[in-house]
Amino acid sequence: MEFRHYSVMLDECMTALYPERGGIYVDCTAGGGGHSSEIARRLPEGSRLICLDRDDDALAACRVRLEPFAGKVTLVKANFTDISRVLDELGVEKIDGALWDLGVSSHQLDEASRGFSYMNDAPLDMRMDKDAPLTAKDVVNGYSEDELFRIISEYGEERFAKKIAYCIVRARAEKEICSTLELAKIIEKAIPTASRKREAQHPAKRTFQAIRIEVNSELSAIKPSIEAAIERMAPGGRAAVITFHSGEDRIVKQTFSRLADPCECPKSFPVCVCGKKPQIVLLNRKPVLPSEKELSENPRSRSAKLRTAEKI
Ligand SMILES: C[S@@+](CC[C@H](N)C(=O)[O-])C[C@H]1O[C@@H](n2cnc3c(N)ncnc32)[C@H](O)[C@@H]1O
Ligand SMILES: [Zn+2]
Repeated sequence: MEFRHYSVMLDECMTALYPERGGIYVDCTAGGGGHSSEIARRLPEGSRLICLDRDDDALAACRVRLEPFAGKVTLVKANFTDISRVLDELGVEKIDGALWDLGVSSHQLDEASRGFSYMNDAPLDMRMDKDAPLTAKDVVNGYSEDELFRIISEYGEERFAKKIAYCIVRARAEKEICSTLELAKIIEKAIPTASRKREAQHPAKRTFQAIRIEVNSELSAIKPSIEAAIERMAPGGRAAVITFHSGEDRIVKQTFSRLADPCECPKSFPVCVCGKKPQIVLLNRKPVLPSEKELSENPRSRSAKLRTAEKI
């Protein structure tokens, strides 16, 4: 299958990252290499791009796409929380830019056998890293009703999380839930018909998103990775993060705010005595949103937000 992926807010990311000035850049979520190929194309001779992804299929596709820039590019299979270790192993001390295009790729969603999609039948998997131990089947069949409720309401922001968790537990008591369509049907039945009819999106969309986030520990990886990358950044280095739902965006916003204003002194203190100095300045106070043109070309950009910062 061809590895297609519309690179979200590509121009906006390039403006923020400014690879033309050269140096060492890290694409923490290389995927099919859309953003990476644009960074590599703009990087002057002598510069370097390090591409990380935890999905072997993504890295294979990225390698092909970046073939014209092979001399500048290093691909590494890694979780982006391990960015410091990867840089140590490559002998890189400081970086000049880092990008995160969070979440799942179109390829992962479109490749039915990966088990991310509620549209095609496949074993319930959803692992970005096929070597990771926890699958969606483990979550759906092994988590308690309370745990399922928490995940579906928190990560899926699903109004009917309680009912869905109850229906999953009831269904699995009769037979283990093994496939994506089995799960999609259970979710569909749990949601009241009137709500189902009112909504444009598939009734299983939010629950599938929630389970995927849990399987891949997506939210807990964001803050440590941004902090580690900023720590390794040279002054003037740029960070750009694209998020796709409010849970992700909240973490990026809070992480950036803390790095931009880390002082812990009480407001009543006339001067700072904690000694914590700002690490970054925010390049935009409000997140950048996709243009009308992009929205019309790529509906997946609909919920995207871009936050950017510069190392002091
Ligand atoms: C939205 S896609 C990136 C698409 C890419 N920017 C492009 O233009 O082709 C996100 C990618 O990040 C990877 N990913 C998600 N979380 C990760 C993590 N914690 N560590 C490494 N890679 C991760 C996924 O496997 C996926 O390939
Ligand atoms: Zn202080």
